[in-house]
Amino acid sequence: MSTELHLARRIASEAGGILRAAAFRSHVADHKQSPTDLVTEYDRRSERLIVDAIREAFPDDHILAEEGGASGAGKNGRRWLIDPLDGTTNFAHGLPFFCVSIALEVDGELEVGVVQAPALGWSFWAERGQGAWLGLSPRPERLRVSATATVGSALLATGFPYDNATDPRNNFAEFVALYQKSQGVRRVGAAALDLAMVAAGWLDGYWEMKLKPWDLAAGALLVREAGGRVTGLGGGELVVDAGEALASNGHLHDELVTALGLVKR
Ligand code: IPD
Ligand code: CA
Ligand code: CA
Repeated sequence: MSTELHLARRIASEAGGILRAAAFRSHVADHKQSPTDLVTEYDRRSERLIVDAIREAFPDDHILAEEGGASGAGKNGRRWLIDPLDGTTNFAHGLPFFCVSIALEVDGELEVGVVQAPALGWSFWAERGQGAWLGLSPRPERLRVSATATVGSALLATGFPYDNATDPRNNFAEFVALYQKSQGVRRVGAAALDLAMVAAGWLDGYWEMKLKPWDLAAGALLVREAGGRVTGLGGGELVVDAGEALASNGHLHDELVTALGLVKR
């Protein structure tokens, strides 16, 4: 295990400890861009712990974190992408579906990804070329995507942007279309967790638009390392900063691209 993965796992677990101690109860939240885009003191505390630890260990790396934005030189081609609390709305209501997401990209390539869901007891990690793993006792389990072959027999997940009430590009038509074709579409409320669950084979596919790089980077590596596929919504190469992702077990991918492409808004 690389030093970077080791560090990412350790700080995800420590930050997760802060969130776990505050789970299963509601929290006061401030609003960001819109009345539905929330932030709590726990998002900030988790982020401070993670960012401080990365800065100390790798002072020359660039860091992009949700609450504090960009910091660090990053002339070495290394960028950390951090969502200190993915699923803030769930967390703020006491619903335990939230996680910490930490990824490292080197020269544009996702190298390390950790998704830690402390209230659920799930710790996922991946390193490029080394597989995707779920920490279980007594030993970690290597993850494999599902074998589901058609959208008609698939369980999918998606999410909706915070500006869904004002921008027609809100994923509603896509949701209806895929709901009618599949065995169901879940809205878990934490993008990194959705991707981790595709990697684990518990979900067969997931898509979302208007994401941020910190939402999708770690989870995308998990899916790839578990044998799945992650692209843009049109099936083209995944661009982490473009904010859209279609992830699947691979078997369903082309069918999902076609189904999403046929949606009329
Ligand atoms: C959000 C969650 C949600 C997704 C949104 C994200 P946050 O992240 O991942 O599931 O639908 O697009 O912004 O705000 O809870 O970190
Ligand atoms: Ca997020
Ligand atoms: Ca967040």
